[in-house]
Amino acid sequence: MRFALALFITPLLAQQATVLDYTFFRDQVQPILLKKRVGHARCVTCHEHGVPPLEPLPPGASGWTEAQSRKNFDMWKQFVRPGQPDSSPLLLHPLAIKAGGDHFHAGGKHWASKDDPEWQVLAQWVTGTRSSGTEARVLQSNAAGDDIHVINPATNKVVGTIEGIEVPHGVVISPDGAHIYVTNESRRTLDIVDSVSLKVTKQVPLSGRPNNLAVSKDGKTVYVAIVEAPGAVDVIDVVAGANVKSIAVKGGIHNVYVTPDGRFAAAGSIPGKLLNIIDTATNTVAWTLATEGGVRPMAFVTNPDGGTKQIIIQLSEYHGIVAIDFATHKEVRRVDLPIPPGQEKETMGIQGSPSHGLAITNDGKILWATSKWYGYVAAFSLPDLKLVKVVPVGSHPEWLTIPPDGKNLYVACAGDDATVVVDNKTMRVVGKIAVGAVPKRNASGMLRIN
Ligand code: HEC
Repeated sequence: MRFALALFITPLLAQQATVLDYTFFRDQVQPILLKKRVGHARCVTCHEHGVPPLEPLPPGASGWTEAQSRKNFDMWKQFVRPGQPDSSPLLLHPLAIKAGGDHFHAGGKHWASKDDPEWQVLAQWVTGTRSSGTEARVLQSNAAGDDIHVINPATNKVVGTIEGIEVPHGVVISPDGAHIYVTNESRRTLDIVDSVSLKVTKQVPLSGRPNNLAVSKDGKTVYVAIVEAPGAVDVIDVVAGANVKSIAVKGGIHNVYVTPDGRFAAAGSIPGKLLNIIDTATNTVAWTLATEGGVRPMAFVTNPDGGTKQIIIQLSEYHGIVAIDFATHKEVRRVDLPIPPGQEKETMGIQGSPSHGLAITNDGKILWATSKWYGYVAAFSLPDLKLVKVVPVGSHPEWLTIPPDGKNLYVACAGDDATVVVDNKTMRVVGKIAVGAVPKRNASGMLRIN
């Protein structure tokens, strides 16, 4: 086997004209190797054990880790001739003989013709015609500015800005990475931004002044928190570009989230002191929970099946975190944030919320929470909510986000006009990125870049 492999590799490496794109392989090619086709075993099932080898999937996982994807890329790129799909073993081995495929593949023929969309994706990778599909990005919205900074988390450099949205509030990336949605406080619109040009392509009128927003799992709907009295959650059909429903709630809504399983939207009211849970199948309120303070940021702890186990919330005037059990709608835990001995408390411009920012690491093991009083982020273990570490980050730390690779935490430091980067493993500050005026809300995801 090893000898046969070596024979293949030598002539193929001689071809260097086209550069094979790793990101495109990870996001577009690997799903083909994982996919179940009717009447066929999956590529991964055999190639986990065979040649060319694929990395073994971690138990229970539906995809590979970043490190494994890199290894897969390094191995499988040796089975294509860059620029030449018609003589690349990866494209010819599983292709029907009559369509020009090899005369035998022990794994069978998965594509009847070169017109098969999967074959076309592989050809795009090999020819480099869609070299870089998507890349991870962090978006930092500047609450007192008129722009949003686009950060590449691989380099922690600003690689673009979205201009001309005066007082942008929340930002989110569509699941396919093609669009960025921004709530525009000055014009009371949902602004739809094209990811490649970073230009606003459409503004959808809202029922009142917005705060934050969230996108549905299928990417078709955006939920917008309407903070202006009487308060509402606007439902935007982003395919049609239309505001299709305004869900009535008690009190202006500050933040809205979609649960990780996509089944519910959670909307928190500050004046109403109420958490509203909306069923996304019907876009009606399923249940509410009265709180003693206004509901601020939230984070979601999931069950093994992906359903919501707990909602962690922050409340107005409370320097801590509150865990709400999703099944019983009851508060189950409350943990005060620590007070560093001898440190003076920041009291200026706290805006009623001493602790305003939450994020859960991608492995689900750590909950981060910010302290505006003491300028730190605190790490708590999950599910037991034990304090692990306090990391000083700067002035007025607000929103938090963790990009898809899970490596770093991005902290909007509103008082420093900077986004501070904390390594999730070492829990040390590893970077500080200058952004715009008073950065608060941020978000991350895979963004289409060409
Ligand atoms: C039933 C198991 C099985 C499945 C499913 C399978 N393969 Fe294979 N594959 C093999 C075996 C065994 C070999 C080595 C013998 C051969 O060349 O046919 C092989 C060889 C290959 C090679 C190496 C060709 C070369 O030049 O040495 C490539 C590339 C390949 N498979 C790609 C795929 C892709 C892509 C899929 C899914 C679309 C797939 N295989 C599905 C078993 C499988």
